[in-house]
Amino acid sequence: MEIVCTPEELRIFELVGNASAELNVSCYLIGGFVRDKLLGRPTKDADIVCTGDGIALAHAAAALLKPRPHVSFFKNFGTAHFRYNDFDLEFVGARKESYRAESRKPDVEPGTIEDDQLRRDFTINALAISLNKDDFGKLTDPFDGLADLERKIIRTPLGPDVTFSDDPLRMMRAIRFATQLNFEILPEVFEAICRNCERIKIISQERITDELNKIMAAAKPSVGLDLLYKSGLLKHFFPQAVDLTGVEIIEGKGHKDNFYHTLQVIDNTAAKSDNLWLRWAAFLHDIGKPATKKFEDGHGWTFHGHEVVGERMTPRIFKQLKLPLNDRMKYVAKLVALHLRPISLTKEDITDSAMRRLLFDAGEDLEDLMILCESDITSKNKMKVKKYLENFEIVKERLVAVEENDRIRSWQPPISGDEIMQIFNLTPSREVGVLKNTIREAILDGVIPNTFEAAYALLVEKGKELKIQPVGNFIRPSGGEG
Ligand code: CTP
Repeated sequence: MEIVCTPEELRIFELVGNASAELNVSCYLIGGFVRDKLLGRPTKDADIVCTGDGIALAHAAAALLKPRPHVSFFKNFGTAHFRYNDFDLEFVGARKESYRAESRKPDVEPGTIEDDQLRRDFTINALAISLNKDDFGKLTDPFDGLADLERKIIRTPLGPDVTFSDDPLRMMRAIRFATQLNFEILPEVFEAICRNCERIKIISQERITDELNKIMAAAKPSVGLDLLYKSGLLKHFFPQAVDLTGVEIIEGKGHKDNFYHTLQVIDNTAAKSDNLWLRWAAFLHDIGKPATKKFEDGHGWTFHGHEVVGERMTPRIFKQLKLPLNDRMKYVAKLVALHLRPISLTKEDITDSAMRRLLFDAGEDLEDLMILCESDITSKNKMKVKKYLENFEIVKERLVAVEENDRIRSWQPPISGDEIMQIFNLTPSREVGVLKNTIREAILDGVIPNTFEAAYALLVEKGKELKIQPVGNFIRPSGGEG
């Protein structure tokens, strides 16, 4: 393993070394940059630690660069940052830290580079590279981090109980690195996570979710989600996911373990799409199952309406996990609500109007819904999976054909609510809603074509029922006929 830097990176590091010589301090690259470079992973963030004042070093280094970057700093934490081209440099003074048991706020004292390495989270993140003139580029590796990188192992420099109780977020980080890098957490380190899992409660949900999202964004999120479950961490911030675990057997009939099924669906989705929110829809697609589970005599296990319950649970879960309460949440809730629909269309004798309804309800998210639905086919029976997938292809083809003909996905009503009000001289009222729905339902059901004339004729008919009549001849402002 070796570190390969670009000429530009080398130039910047040499300047930082010069700046530290001016200040009479030593400085080192440390943390994720060193780890990722050794692993050959792309990285644009460099952490620099110095045996002195990190803020002063940042200013001195910035002064040597052209154009001079703006330095932002936090006096309380002794950290400083600047961005140069697309490179982020973070500066901090080496420190000895001791944490108090009830808080994450450490008592900080200046320390040597060895002190600083010792207080880092994992051996693979404690490797330091000198930027000093006399030994520029020399690796300092007091805990065999290089060997752990080669063996693909997550290990703590101190006893794991100390490292995790110093900063419990590191338990999430261990699992996140194991997932992202495909590393194994050393068994005694994992046991320490299990022992200390309750300490995660002192960490803010935003920071926990940040790590959770990094796990969700990995190539195989199931690795981390399973470790979160097995370590006992998951139940502290997402108990609804833990409720999916387990199999119940009555009269010899069991249902599948919905947690492990869900993990498979997330992995299947991840193999097809990088969209984090689609992966979240996969995570939540069956979240309503525990609440709707029933054993029906002669029938077996059912989860009727779990998609509706799941849709309703989604905003609460997003709030609890501090995920964004915006369009992304609505998108996830919508996919959870619709996740059974495409499969229900694989049955025989499905009409075009059922296809039109799915096109209408899924709209611009149809492709994502199809990925989710296909990912949800996880039976162990290969023949069954093959048959489902074949039928699924037929549904896809029919959806394309119906869409080409009827243009339902970006559907705009041929007569708008405003126009309905003008036609009947109505103010906003229940009637307007009824008339709008009548047009939409008739088009989706294929009763009338998707045209102004047909919709107008239907409005007149429906108006009679509601005892209202068009007032005079309606002229479309756009110039269309009335
Ligand atoms: N670190 C730590 N404990 C934490 C967070 C960070 O010891 N809870 C140390 C590690 O040495 C880590 C470095 O600070 O390598 C930088 O942290 P950060 O930028 O959060 O993570 P990276 O390791 O750089 O990884 P990534 O960029 O993938 O988050």
